[in-house]
Amino acid sequence: MERFFYFCNRNHLKNTINMVSYKELGLVNTRKMFAKAVDGGYAIPAFNFNNMEQMQAIIMAAVETKSPVILQVSKGARNYANQTLLRYMAQGAVEYAKELGCAHPEIVLHLDHGDSFELCKSCIDMGFSSVMIDGSALPYDENVALTRKVVDYAHQYDVTVEGELGVLAGVEDEVAAEESHYTKPEEVIDFVTKTGVDSLAISIGTSHGAYKFTPEQCTVDPATGRLVPPPLAFDVLEAIEQKLPGFPIVLHGSSSVPQDEVDTINKYGGSLKAAVGIPEEQLRKAAKSAVCKINIDSDSRLAMTAAIRKAFAEKPAEFDPRKYLGPARDNMKKLYEHKIINVLGSNDKLENA
Ligand code: G3H
Ligand code: 13P
Ligand code: ZN
Repeated sequence: MERFFYFCNRNHLKNTINMVSYKELGLVNTRKMFAKAVDGGYAIPAFNFNNMEQMQAIIMAAVETKSPVILQVSKGARNYANQTLLRYMAQGAVEYAKELGCAHPEIVLHLDHGDSFELCKSCIDMGFSSVMIDGSALPYDENVALTRKVVDYAHQYDVTVEGELGVLAGVEDEVAAEESHYTKPEEVIDFVTKTGVDSLAISIGTSHGAYKFTPEQCTVDPATGRLVPPPLAFDVLEAIEQKLPGFPIVLHGSSSVPQDEVDTINKYGGSLKAAVGIPEEQLRKAAKSAVCKINIDSDSRLAMTAAIRKAFAEKPAEFDPRKYLGPARDNMKKLYEHKIINVLGSNDKLENA
């Protein structure tokens, strides 16, 4: 028995020694940031990153606009870029922000769509300041149990946790406007109470990717000929806010799929047909409510791809990566600044810029 306890303690000690606290890396968790955003009627940008150019563009945009920012890493990004590199990049991001003139950057390193306790734990242990445990596809009780387990672990280290209730529609199954996939307002108090989550991702009609709606679900704007998607379910959002006054709400799948980027991609050899996103006015409206984190990934992919395609087409003899990744970075920075200032309203919200 004594030997058993010796091994347990030794393993615990080993784990603690190997752990990196996000606080040592200069990162912050989401708690204070979200409380301020809910009070102030704006949302914090959560931008996904997979490489250096995306990270640089995000930090440059956040510093220039004096915005707090969430650097978001998916399981796929972790596999693509290597988890250790991503963590050092986030640490580098803090120093880079300071070098760009921001004395006190507010940067969160967040796991996007964590799908297991082990993945969340591994991220917490290596310096993430926030994790999402996405149990939304599980039966309700299993989602509660898994989310509770992650919260219990994360809160020991002052790491904040995002849970999810409701299923984001996929365009494949044509359920984008179907009520049954929206978050059920009658479940949110029970979920938040039983799990102890710090924020809740909800489903009100957004979805991931550049094809959020089928053409059949849209109307056509006679002036432009563009597809106009159905509105988000603001009644569901309002019902959730009434149940959980002031509680931080998260919107995934919030890319707007800028048509100028789609047009550029198609002009220079791409083939994106009938790509439709969430209109920015609707996101602005959501940001003024308890929605305090808005996730954007696809728009950055479009901005990057458009700039690279253009550079390839205009300078076919060029083969220095900096000559096409540089314009891609500039284009993403422009996009991030636009989102921060004109959509989310998180500019000039740093406490001590
Ligand atoms: O929610 C999904 C994000 O856009 C991340 O996508 O899994 O392809 O990295 P990914
Ligand atoms: P988009 O695909 O709409 O950019 O959504 C990204 C997202 O929700 C990441 O979690
Ligand atoms: Zn998402």
